[in-house]
Parts: sequence; C-alpha cells; structure tokens
Amino acid sequence: MKIAIGCDHIVTDTKMNVSKYLKDQGHEVIDVGTYDFARTHYPIFGRKVGEAVVHHEADLGICICGTGVGITNAANKVSGVRAGLVKDLMTARYSKEQLNANVIGFGGRIIGELLLFDLIDAFIAAEYQPTPENQLLIDKMTKLDKAREYNSDAHVFDSLLEKWNNGEYTD
Ligand code: RB5
Repeated sequence: MKIAIGCDHIVTDTKMNVSKYLKDQGHEVIDVGTYDFARTHYPIFGRKVGEAVVHHEADLGICICGTGVGITNAANKVSGVRAGLVKDLMTARYSKEQLNANVIGFGGRIIGELLLFDLIDAFIAAEYQPTPENQLLIDKMTKLDKAREYNSDAHVFDSLLEKWNNGEYTD
C-alpha cells in the first residue's frame, strides 16, 4: 500500500519511526515532511498529506503533530479528505469501517509509539462497510465539501431538513 505521512517539527522523530515501521511491513511511504526539528506549521503538512491522498498518489494518509488536533484539522480542509483523530483501537477501526476515512491523525506527544503502531495496523486492516446508512452520511460530507469549494450553497441541507421536519426520518 502507498501511504503518505506528514508531521510538524514537534514530532519528526515519531514520524521517522512510523515511516520505518511501515516500510518494514512492505508499504511504500511518501514522506511529505517536515524533515527536521526547525519550527514550522502543521497546516502545510496536513494539507500535503490530504492532497497526496485525493490526488491518488497515496492510498491512505497519516498525519502527526503534538496533539494531532491541528494537523488532522488541516488535512480535513482538503476537499475529499475524511480524516479521523485517533488514540484508541475502537476509533481507528470505526473511522475506516463507518466513515471510510482516508487519513488518520495522531498526537505524537499524547500517545506512545507502540500504541501508535497498533492503531495504524488496525486502521489499515479495517475495511469500509458500505451500508446505505454509511454511504448516505459520506455523501452528506461530500456535499459539505462541494458547498465549501464553491462557497455558493448555504442551503445545502435545506431539503434534508425539510424532510426531517416532516417526519420522514426515524431512528
Ligand atoms: C506545535 O505547533 C503544536 O501546536 C502542534 O504540534 C499541535 O499540537 C497542534 O495541534
């Protein structure tokens, strides 16, 4: 599998260890940086990971910063990215199985490397479950992307909300 990985300067050493771990398992790694510990900004590298995935240069993306919050948010700003910030096995699996996440984010200063490796394994091994419910939710997320891209459709959910108000949805 081709996997794009990126980080900010806080966790470059963790990213290098993840890169080695993936290569040892036979994966091809596209390391989009940063490559040292000089002060930088996580949006640059979250975006690069996301773009590598949506441009089909990579099958999946992994992004790491101190807490994971910043770089995962940055990746999610790339249209077509569904990135999950993960620190437990349930979320690692859920993000792929239910949301078809194509990027996974970690706080390198929050979780240890051994857990991080396990979470990556779980994410890679998990398979998307394309149920109608899951696909409906993903389609709605895609609509959000489109609305943001063109900044033109503030009413993107109006028809759905009308159906909701008319009692057409039940749980
Ligand atoms: C450092 O820039 C730090 O803010 C960053 O690594 C991350 O924790 C943000 O979410």
